[in-house]
Amino acid sequence: MARRRIIAGNWKMNMTPSQAVELVNTLKDLVVNPDVDVVYCVPAIDIVPVAEAIKGTNVQLGAENFYIEDKGAFTGEISAPMLKECGVKYIIIGHSERRDIFGENDILINQKVKKAFASGLTPILCCGESLALRKAGTYTEWIKRQITWDLTGVTADQVKELVIAYEPIWAIGTGETATADQAEEVCKMIRETIAELYDAATAEAVRIQYGGSMNAGNAAELLAKDNIDGGLIGGAALKPDFGQIVNA
Ligand code: PGA
Repeated sequence: MARRRIIAGNWKMNMTPSQAVELVNTLKDLVVNPDVDVVYCVPAIDIVPVAEAIKGTNVQLGAENFYIEDKGAFTGEISAPMLKECGVKYIIIGHSERRDIFGENDILINQKVKKAFASGLTPILCCGESLALRKAGTYTEWIKRQITWDLTGVTADQVKELVIAYEPIWAIGTGETATADQAEEVCKMIRETIAELYDAATAEAVRIQYGGSMNAGNAAELLAKDNIDGGLIGGAALKPDFGQIVNA
């Protein structure tokens, strides 16, 4: 079964609302590819203007964060129903910046994955190791454990819709990319982990992205790998280069 490629931009804390609309317009003709799901995961305040700006295009909308309750006294947070009403389809969960800077642990990340599915949002679940773990050679166990914890109680049918992003922390925003072979090794291991936790059909269906300094120059080689079904792109998603990645 051929998996559909998914190229998602993670804009992080960049782009004011007017800059966001300008970027959508700059990229509009560059990101057209009928064989690829193209997603912009944007800051909360950009969601409404970006939803308007992508109308009539092939681009789908994603968010970078949400909280697990529908409403209530959670100052500063936004909920799944709020995102849904604005046309959001994808939600990044478990990004290393949320884990490391904002202290999100695997218990919360697991709750977010389940809440996203219950709300009709598709999680882009991030995992990945630090440089220390890479050097220690224990990164495989680490990532396996992240996936196992983060998917506790998630059904096989849900995992078939899931997107997993493998993002080695040492490659994020550093300009240092994992080699295509290094990325493929881990993405293959993630698929095998899904096969162990679920079954072969679920492992075959789940889409796995690579993320970490993916750019116009290295995208084609990474995306050619058997187990890499797309990319989660930070820095290069804010430039016309993103169009080259979509069409790599
Ligand atoms: P980068 O970010 O492409 O700037 O390395 C990727 C990410 O953090 O999702």
